[in-house]
Amino acid sequence: DVMNDIMGLSTLQDKLRDKLGIRKVILVPGSYDKNNSLLKDVAKSGSEYFLDILKDKDTVSMTGGSTMLAFAENIKTDKKFNNVTIVPARGSMGINVETQSNNIVSIASKKLNCDYRLLNVPDELGEKAMKTLTKEPEIKTTLDSIEKTDILVFGVGRADEMATRRNLPKEKVEEILSKGAVGEAFGYYFNQEGEIVYKLNTVGIDLETFKQVKDTIAVLAGTRKAEALIAISKINKNIVLISDEESAHRILELL
Ligand code: G3H
Repeated sequence: DVMNDIMGLSTLQDKLRDKLGIRKVILVPGSYDKNNSLLKDVAKSGSEYFLDILKDKDTVSMTGGSTMLAFAENIKTDKKFNNVTIVPARGSMGINVETQSNNIVSIASKKLNCDYRLLNVPDELGEKAMKTLTKEPEIKTTLDSIEKTDILVFGVGRADEMATRRNLPKEKVEEILSKGAVGEAFGYYFNQEGEIVYKLNTVGIDLETFKQVKDTIAVLAGTRKAEALIAISKINKNIVLISDEESAHRILELL
């Protein structure tokens, strides 16, 4: 019955939280793998948690991707957050405009009636360009805000999918994957043990900031991301995971 289902889900949440050693797990019932429309429920549940913890004067960083797009679109509040600022956690990547973190930040800021800044620069940059561009006032202001992140909301990326999305040359993709990379976050590629096996020269949030952020929310739908999530959870235990029931089972199987 319904009560049993709810109790089962809350037991699963606690079990996964303890096994991963992270702060909290919030699950929606069902399987994203079998029913992709569940992404909306995961996104809703994530945005509700986010609204619960969001405070006046917070700086919020958000990454890109289809999960984060659903997250932003599903923020529902009548409140105005005049003193909140949202910034992209990274630069732009790939060719899909909708799922760029800039776009996600813009959508989320409209839902929250808050301020936002953009990061109008490709995520991956050569060393020279990096030095010059990060000194540009508009870019520097955004990068300074990123360092002050109070809440980070991010989508979990598989190493292979992210390497492809970043349009890396084939040889580079093969090199990264041959090093055992299973997950990518903010330009770092991690193996199953959470060790950095490859790093790209990217703008946006760095690993040190990631580890220091007060509230970090990972939004994940789909069992294919289980390995990537496990890798990320080895780097940072201060994570609240929002996911679906089947993905949770898959993660547990691998632990
Ligand atoms: O940064 C993007 C995320 O890592 C994953 O993207 O939500 O489209 O799967 P996705």
